Amino acid sequence: MVIGVAGGTASGKSTLVKRLHETFAREEVVGLCHDFYYKAHDELTFEERTKLNYDHPESFDTDMMIEDIKRLKSGLPIHHPVYSFVDHNRTKETVLVKPAKVIIIDGVLILENKELRDLMDVKIFVDTAADVRLGRRLLRDVEERGRDMNSVLNQYFSTVKPMHDQFVEPSKKYANLIIPEGGFNSVGLKLLIDNIKTMLQELNSGNE
Ligand code: ADP
Ligand code: C5P
Ligand code: MG
Repeated sequence: MVIGVAGGTASGKSTLVKRLHETFAREEVVGLCHDFYYKAHDELTFEERTKLNYDHPESFDTDMMIEDIKRLKSGLPIHHPVYSFVDHNRTKETVLVKPAKVIIIDGVLILENKELRDLMDVKIFVDTAADVRLGRRLLRDVEERGRDMNSVLNQYFSTVKPMHDQFVEPSKKYANLIIPEGGFNSVGLKLLIDNIKTMLQELNSGNE
């Protein structure tokens, strides 16, 4: 079973997914982020990489992610790439992920791509107001992603916001479930967890 968690930048997708991983065992639930599949840009300098548009669908190697999801669904392990937001590039490492009953995928643009969308059994959109997201992103990117205030704001106004309006927000219509605020929405989170538990029970009883 594949659960997709989409939503604008800093809406709370990763926080929500983290809560799910804390609830379920590794054999039951595994996660894949679209972010892992940002294209590598070894041909560019660091300076050039800082200027790229990272919010356009073309900035991801979505075909590679689709292949990996299909492999996991067919019961095979994968090695996903690892991305560095500090270096704006793919690292040399990969991470082994073994197949599990539930695969959770998250990313700003995962509902925008039809082939990816069609692999999902449950489509979630984390909906958080733009001003809240900008505030969260500013704090997070300065603390965790090696940015300064000027670079976060310049990037937000030049690419993040226009791409959000063009691609992310319109993809909300494909969601089955909209969760305001993400991982700290305890009622929404509990409903989702209960739902996954029921689906796991159904999958287990189907295998007996
Ligand atoms: P996304 O993966 O959608 O970009 P994150 O889950 O990484 O978003 O959240 C972005 C930032 O906002 C993180 O620093 C996170 O700790 C913080 N955050 C997430 N949800 C909340 C919330 N409900 N209230 C306050 N801060 C939050
Ligand atoms: O976790 P979140 O959904 O915010 O991650 C996606 C965001 O990461 C995108 O909005 C994109 O602008 C940002 N990004 C970045 N630098 C990169 C790659 C992605 O700021 N090198
Ligand atoms: Mg995230």
